[in-house]
Amino acid sequence: MKLAPSLLSADFSRLYDEACAVEPLADRFHWDVMDGHFVSNLTFGPPVVNALRKRLSLPFDVHLMIEHPLDLAPHFDVGPDDSIIFHAETGGDPAAVIAAIARTSARVGITLRPATSLEQLSPFLDDVSLVLVMSVEPGFGGQAFLAEALDRIRTLREMLGERAVEIAVDGGIHAGNVRSVVQAGADIIVAGSAIFGQPDPAAAAAALRQAAA
Ligand code: DX5
Ligand code: ZN
Repeated sequence: MKLAPSLLSADFSRLYDEACAVEPLADRFHWDVMDGHFVSNLTFGPPVVNALRKRLSLPFDVHLMIEHPLDLAPHFDVGPDDSIIFHAETGGDPAAVIAAIARTSARVGITLRPATSLEQLSPFLDDVSLVLVMSVEPGFGGQAFLAEALDRIRTLREMLGERAVEIAVDGGIHAGNVRSVVQAGADIIVAGSAIFGQPDPAAAAAALRQAAA
């Protein structure tokens, strides 16, 4: 499994230092971009993500929880190892958003709120590299893991068949449940509060890895 710490739970006054502290223990970084409309929370956007992209080595997964991904996607300075993930429920044509993300050269990721039917993904599975299964309602870190996400991971794995599409799982993951998430079929584990909400984020990341094995 790959570990993607979510900087949503980091100290925003020290984002770079917080990321560096866990970089040796991580595989990717997860950036939760929120606009105060699609979700009620408001975080950071292209200027912050792009500044950190220049200074950090690991690939970025940019999780867009925003109403207008078509407008914002072109403003991320990302490369072919990075991903931009959008919610299929947002306004606009998902195929157009997929094309806009592809033009940035990043991998295309798609996601849904926990209650949205996985069937909504079916038309797009040939056009994405990553599907993010939300195991909490998007908007805030530190929420409890929704157990029904495990079935969604398994169903999605069947829907994907032989396609080379990664499954990432986002929300409420900690050392006590990470193994069940990996066993259900997750390739990438996103964790925010279980890493940056802890006194020693690097030790917490190491513990999470160990618990997953
Ligand atoms: C929720 C975000 C998650 C969040 C996960 O809207 O998409 O990435 O940071 O945080 P934890 O691990 O604390 O649930
Ligand atoms: Zn996220």
